[in-house]
Amino acid sequence: MDTKLLFVCLGNICRSPAAQGIMEHLLKERDMDGCVQVDSAGTYGGHQGELPDSRMRAHAAKRGVNLTHRSRKVSSSDFENFDMIIAMDDRNFHDLMDLAPDPESQDKIYRMTDFSDNPVFDHVPDPYYTGAEGFELVLDMLEDACGGLLGELIKKG
Ligand code: 4NP
Repeated sequence: MDTKLLFVCLGNICRSPAAQGIMEHLLKERDMDGCVQVDSAGTYGGHQGELPDSRMRAHAAKRGVNLTHRSRKVSSSDFENFDMIIAMDDRNFHDLMDLAPDPESQDKIYRMTDFSDNPVFDHVPDPYYTGAEGFELVLDMLEDACGGLLGELIKKG
């Protein structure tokens, strides 16, 4: 298996870097870090170069996940370089569909909640204007969906 995953949200400072960190953590736990490459990006470039939001870093660290990604904007070359491009919500999904250069690229776009074992919502809600419970909800949803996605990748081989 040599799969390249790109998680995408709006700012690339809350949901998608957390998804990246959780997936990297799961891969390491299973000694699979060489098998899957993981990155994240945002459809909005306003936080370019920034570490993830300090609240998200603090909540993730309590679960043993350190977030060190630097925010970057999605680029058209991402559609060539990645096998699966995974959107956190409908807005991210439709923005990616509009950015995709061709139908083959559009076929690479998924919704994070497609992989949830225990679906709570049909999207991963933006926690930016919420309190601690919003960040915990996002991390619970991402742990569940990353586990489901990794299970699918292992099944496919
Ligand atoms: P994210 O959260 O898309 O999960 O990284 C957000 C971060 C920043 C903004 C919006 C959402 N913002 O508008 O600055």
